[in-house]
Amino acid sequence: MKPNTKILIIAGSDSSGGAGIQADIKTVTALGSYAMTAITAVTSQNTTGVISIVSIPPKEISKQIEFTSKDIKPDAIKIGMLHSAPVIDAVIKSLSKIKAKKIILDPVMIAKGGTKLIDNKATKILKSKLIKKVSLLTPNIPEAEILSGIKIKKKEDMIYAGRKLLNMGVKNVLIKGGHLLSNKLEDIFLNKKEIVIFKNKKIITKNTHGTGCTLSSAIATYYSCGKTLKKSCEMAIKYVNHAIGTGPNYGKGHGPINHLNTIILKKKYR
Ligand SMILES: Nc1ncnc2c1ncn2[C@@H]1O[C@H](COP(=O)(O)OP(=O)(O)OP(=O)(O)O)[C@@H](O)[C@H]1O
Ligand SMILES: [Mg+2]
Repeated sequence: MKPNTKILIIAGSDSSGGAGIQADIKTVTALGSYAMTAITAVTSQNTTGVISIVSIPPKEISKQIEFTSKDIKPDAIKIGMLHSAPVIDAVIKSLSKIKAKKIILDPVMIAKGGTKLIDNKATKILKSKLIKKVSLLTPNIPEAEILSGIKIKKKEDMIYAGRKLLNMGVKNVLIKGGHLLSNKLEDIFLNKKEIVIFKNKKIITKNTHGTGCTLSSAIATYYSCGKTLKKSCEMAIKYVNHAIGTGPNYGKGHGPINHLNTIILKKKYR
């Protein structure tokens, strides 16, 4: 097959391949589109943890976005971890220069273990500027709490926080329920006109590294192909659920999910 659409991913590299840019490229590819990247940081990590993060200078991030897009125009953009205020500022300027329209922002702020990944200044500009400029915001529960200022303990709190984000200028939001202490899994999509609750079975596994990155890249891919945001969320959630369910069980810690679950190799390539 030939790629359906072109996606630009702005995010950090995960040397272990389960999250970050690596998960994004695999997802976009496994769903039939062409992946391009602007790398914001390089991490050294494995499934048991992160040992170092090296930031790429904002100027270099802008160059990657602008020079790449000038030649091959992306149909959608997925943004992952932006760790500092100057990086967020640079990305906002570059996005406006390339006139990007379909933008999915995964506001990565807190790692699964609870570690804060971005500083206070970055949180402030993310909240005051960037979240208003994107088509869809996909916070997990702790990120939705920080951005909205609402404590989330149950589904009703997720909806309340979602409404607060819409009032702050967010166009569409998908609050991910993976962190809620419940045996059900509910991701909630909201905009000014509708609320949709996507229910799913919770898979009991320690291997959920990169679920958030994978989900937002899958949404960007479906959205770039002309699906509505609501339908893109529904299909992306299904893809992630199947990827968790068929995970390869690699590593001693929180292992990766199976991005390749959509692919059947032709016999001559096996
Ligand atoms: N155990 C699980 N079983 C099934 N689906 C899950 C499970 N954990 C998370 N998900 C799904 O994975 C997607 C990502 O949700 P999650 O809340 O884990 O995001 P996240 O915290 O941003 O992930 P990450 O740790 O990769 O940043 C959501 O659609 C969520 O419902
Ligand atoms: Mg996340």
